[in-house]
Amino acid sequence: MAAPHISQQDYIDNFNARDYLQTSYTPGKGILFGEWIEFATRNLHETFTTGGVRGDTLLDFGTGPTIYQLLSACEVFDKIIVSDLLEQNRAEFQKWLNKDPDAFDWTHIIKGVCELEGNRENPEKKAEKLRSKVKQVLKCDALKINPYDPVIVPPADCLLVCLCLEIPCKDMKSYCNVLKNFKDLLKPEGHILIFSTLNATYYHAGKKRFSLLSSKKEELEMAFKEAGYIIKKAVYTPRADKSKIDVADYEGHYFIHAHKPK
Ligand SMILES: C[S@@+](CC[C@H](N)C(=O)[O-])C[C@H]1O[C@@H](n2cnc3c(N)ncnc32)[C@H](O)[C@@H]1O
Repeated sequence: MAAPHISQQDYIDNFNARDYLQTSYTPGKGILFGEWIEFATRNLHETFTTGGVRGDTLLDFGTGPTIYQLLSACEVFDKIIVSDLLEQNRAEFQKWLNKDPDAFDWTHIIKGVCELEGNRENPEKKAEKLRSKVKQVLKCDALKINPYDPVIVPPADCLLVCLCLEIPCKDMKSYCNVLKNFKDLLKPEGHILIFSTLNATYYHAGKKRFSLLSSKKEELEMAFKEAGYIIKKAVYTPRADKSKIDVADYEGHYFIHAHKPK
């Protein structure tokens, strides 16, 4: 049976950015280090090269304390705005931006993306390029009509959302409403790229367990259509390694690339 939906306050009080990074992205051990990183970075690399997605501004929504999702984007956008609900996540991201000696070490994953891109650049230069493109770290809340309220963010060319909406949305109706509100954050024909897990009910950050909305392929595509987007591409892959099912119970990964009509 699915766990009860977590309240926003519970999330704010209990999510530890460092525990999340360690549980998820520790090289060799983190639950998301292998298949997920491979799925996300490969699809992002393709989207920002052969997929032709590029522009002035990319908004990353629900950034958390992570940078992996921006490593290919920084090659084709002038300006990146990152954003998250939680102060502790924005502070952890800022540590990486400021090269704080205590910041999480992303070297393994940066090297992987450099390889995908044909090693045009070394990992240090890649990290510097990303740092130079991040112009703002903002607070956001997916459940607000203007998620950046009271800030008005000018419409962007691309909105990227990784592993986020299954947390605040208690059902697919709420997920669809968030997608509808996101249209105001995009320019006409602007792109939305959503990456996440399928059929999941929980994940852990350290010892703390958080519940998730269980997303299903058919319902996801329906939500995008109902929200008024045009789907360009949808990719679904099953989870092959089920060894850490006690840490997170997702059954697969999805990537939906859609755009706002003219
Ligand atoms: C599982 S983490 C994903 C972090 C990162 N994007 C990644 O790919 O690893 C989920 C993120 O969603 C954020 N989040 C949860 N509720 C939110 C809301 N209502 N609005 C915006 N972000 C939210 C959390 O703070 C957290 O950073």
